[in-house]
Amino acid sequence: MGVLEWATSPWGQRVPIHIAWFLIWVAVIAGFLFFIVHATYLRYFAKTREFAGGISPAEAARIPEHVPRHSLAARLFHWIMAASMFVLLFTAFLPKVGVQFNWVTYHWIAGVVLTASILFHIIHASFFMDFWAIWPDRIDLRDAWRRMVRAAGKPEPPPDRFAKYPLENKLYHGAIIAAGLSAIITGVFMMSRVRTVFFPRNPYLFSDMTWGMMYVLHGLAGVGLIALIMVHVYFGLRPEKRPITKSMIFGWMSRDFYLKEHDPKRWVVETSSSSSSSPSTSKGLEGRGLTDAG
Ligand code: HEM
Repeated sequence: MGVLEWATSPWGQRVPIHIAWFLIWVAVIAGFLFFIVHATYLRYFAKTREFAGGISPAEAARIPEHVPRHSLAARLFHWIMAASMFVLLFTAFLPKVGVQFNWVTYHWIAGVVLTASILFHIIHASFFMDFWAIWPDRIDLRDAWRRMVRAAGKPEPPPDRFAKYPLENKLYHGAIIAAGLSAIITGVFMMSRVRTVFFPRNPYLFSDMTWGMMYVLHGLAGVGLIALIMVHVYFGLRPEKRPITKSMIFGWMSRDFYLKEHDPKRWVVETSSSSSSSPSTSKGLEGRGLTDAG
């Protein structure tokens, strides 16, 4: 049983046509295995989190009770993207597991919504937010090493508190970029094979082999997204992560949660009294923590 399905073109060439659909179940099972392994690790093996140094009372007093985390625009983007992603996953995969309906139109419409929302996000993140907040930095890598050594029971100084996003979130964002952009770029080309309102249908744009590879990449990105989204929802629902999920609804997180996990030097929350004086304040509106607090 191969991971691809093949066909013979009119010219006798063997070409891939798409992924084998059992990979849907591989992704779903991988997602559930992740839940089990992670929940077991947390329950029986994880030690209480410790961070280096403390936050001085003066620094803590500067932090507002509601720390702004996601602007209204960022939250709207997130939920529109999430809705379109779920429509894409269900319209793509339900027919493959036996639920038949006329899925293609709903699918490409959701694809267009996702594509538009991602274009918005790229512009918003590049010019209006702190672009670098979501990419791993040197402290993240040093602290990942420290956490690993400490988890193995060896002596090592504790890690620093996190910047706005912990390393795990940054790595997850990278994986979503890879899978999401692969699905979007191939999906936009695949729209030329079906009837849409955007351009005339043209199934001869590429050779059979190129189309085959494109469908394979689209399918691989799609099944990858099943596992990635399952993991994302799992973390969003976990009790210790709920303050983060709530911040994606209301826009802010509590001062207590911020002080427990975040380093005010790495994620500067600008207050009205510090707006003209803080040297390490990040350039973007959200990095500056200034946008609407919901
Ligand atoms: C979560 C993201 C996505 C997933 C999971 C997904 C999954 C799939 C799957 C499994 C297929 C069937 C392909 C095959 O038969 O080999 C498909 C077809 C298709 N997808 Fe997506 N897709 C996603 C995003 C997109 C996007 C963003 C677009 C457009 C911008 C798009 C446009 C299409 C089109 C037009 C087809 C139909 C092609 C045809 O029937 O010839 N998809 N998608």
